Amino acid sequence: MCGIFGYVGELENSPSVILEGLKLLEYRGYDSWGIAVGNDRHIVCEKQVGKIGNAVLKSDVLNLKSNIGIGHTRWATHGMVTDANAHPHLSCDRQIAVVHNGIVENFNSLKKKLEKKHEFYSDTDTEVIAHLIEQELKTKPLKEAVVSAFKKLKGLNAIAVLSQEGEIVVAKNGSPLVLGAGDSSYYVASDPSALISYTKKAIFIEDQQLAVLNKKGIQVFSLENGKKVASKIQTLQGEVADTLPGEYAHFMLKEINEQPKVIRSVVEVLTDSAVDMAREIKAARGTFFIASGTAFHACLAGTYLFSKIAGHHVNTSVASEFNYLEDFLNPKSLVIALSQSGETIDVVEPLNRAAKKGAKIAAVVNNLGSTIYRMGDIKVLLGAGPEIAVASTKAYVAKIAFLLLVAYSLVGKTSTAKRLLRQSANEIERLLRKSDLEKIKKTAKFLAKAEHIYTIGRGLSYSTALESALKIKEVSYIHTEGLAGGELKHGTIALVSRGTPCLVYAPSDETYEAIISNATEIKSRGGFIIGIGSKKADVFDEWIEVKDTGDASLISMVVPAQLLAYYLALEKGADPDKPRNLAKSVTVK
Ligand code: AGP
Repeated sequence: MCGIFGYVGELENSPSVILEGLKLLEYRGYDSWGIAVGNDRHIVCEKQVGKIGNAVLKSDVLNLKSNIGIGHTRWATHGMVTDANAHPHLSCDRQIAVVHNGIVENFNSLKKKLEKKHEFYSDTDTEVIAHLIEQELKTKPLKEAVVSAFKKLKGLNAIAVLSQEGEIVVAKNGSPLVLGAGDSSYYVASDPSALISYTKKAIFIEDQQLAVLNKKGIQVFSLENGKKVASKIQTLQGEVADTLPGEYAHFMLKEINEQPKVIRSVVEVLTDSAVDMAREIKAARGTFFIASGTAFHACLAGTYLFSKIAGHHVNTSVASEFNYLEDFLNPKSLVIALSQSGETIDVVEPLNRAAKKGAKIAAVVNNLGSTIYRMGDIKVLLGAGPEIAVASTKAYVAKIAFLLLVAYSLVGKTSTAKRLLRQSANEIERLLRKSDLEKIKKTAKFLAKAEHIYTIGRGLSYSTALESALKIKEVSYIHTEGLAGGELKHGTIALVSRGTPCLVYAPSDETYEAIISNATEIKSRGGFIIGIGSKKADVFDEWIEVKDTGDASLISMVVPAQLLAYYLALEKGADPDKPRNLAKSVTVK
């Protein structure tokens, strides 16, 4: 997915405003970047391959007096990573520039028609939009031309169009866009976190809506009938500081360190929501958790928590697989979607189908106004604050903390959950102290040489094993496989040889003996055992102590792996915040 940013207002410093806005969106795509600004009825464009993090504009662009412009950070879908394929894309007559997030599924057929009259310079689907609007402008004013062109696009898209007439027109269908209303300055961004530095007053436009931004303000219209629609101003959560790494070298380390605060916030703010969710789960005939990646691991943990604490059965599915699993849904079903970004396309699509079957939708997300948030009949905001690092940490912990509250609320013991969560927050604070970090840094140095790493756990720790493997592989690029301890002997143990490292999750619960015997099976084949838990076992070659906090142990026990992943990335010379090939929110299939 990509990052879109746009500005129009009184001040004539649009190049620097847009560049700074894009830097706050870098985590959405870091293959290339570009800006286009309006200057005395001309459009000036600068774009290049590479991360925008340390980008500086050419002086003639930076010093342009311009009060309007758009920008883009790209995660390549169509077309290689080249300057020519970087956004913005201009029409032949350079009257308009376009930035885009999404995939134009019918761009080939559109391009074939347009090539007769338009000269193309890139391989992107986005450039088709610029020429399509240019074509429509021959017979229509700007807004109507964008409406007509946008309606011809198939797929899930969001665009921002800069006109040299001094307007920005945005349109949305399935990809995120949010507008900001400052004091005589107006903004568009792919993500609210890029607006907070400029304004907290946000307008979340809906799919099939279009907005026109100019010096006078913002107007929102329906794409269907072109009629003006009322737009609601909402106040964004979070502070500017949330969008900066502050004292930390990377966002990932900052967000790991914010976890105790996030857990305490969930306890303070989401208890009533947890009680309400428990009531909804009790009333439903079948509850289905769906999510992707790390969020799926939180759902899996929830399944075990609900069974163990409340004896209540819930189903869990990887969101992309739920498309093929949801035929049995009925109007009494409850589908609970967990998503940090609230924009994951693999979650949005099955939710749309579930809603069409009459199922009740619950959205547990970290982004106000996001697509999934708006789809929820029940809405829960995790309140973890903007999560910038691609590797999700504090949002994962917030989801599990919330699910633990719900599980205990199902049996009327919410106060027990609150106590355990507070203990877990304290234990994470202990783990983050310098003394404990040294051991983890040393272990990372040792693991950096590994070609394969395995992580195993049982019961509540199975999801921890999966999450640990994902964290390590996605930021350090070391192949890491997480699995249920009991599955080892069904194949994977064939891969264990001398020195193969394995993280073993051994909390003081009913899984302890069995997981220690799994560790022994690995050890007897030469494996290197890194035990994580409250009790040291002879089989451990390394032991990372995590004190017991009951069912909430699964939260604190993931922190060593989060830290290991971070320090492994540094050992490997990788950027923990912006792993190669990945994006913070997967908004394209
Ligand atoms: C997690 O570290 C990954 N970045 C990825 O698996 C992520 O959890 C997944 O894409 C789901 O994102 P979401 O929570 O925003 O829906």
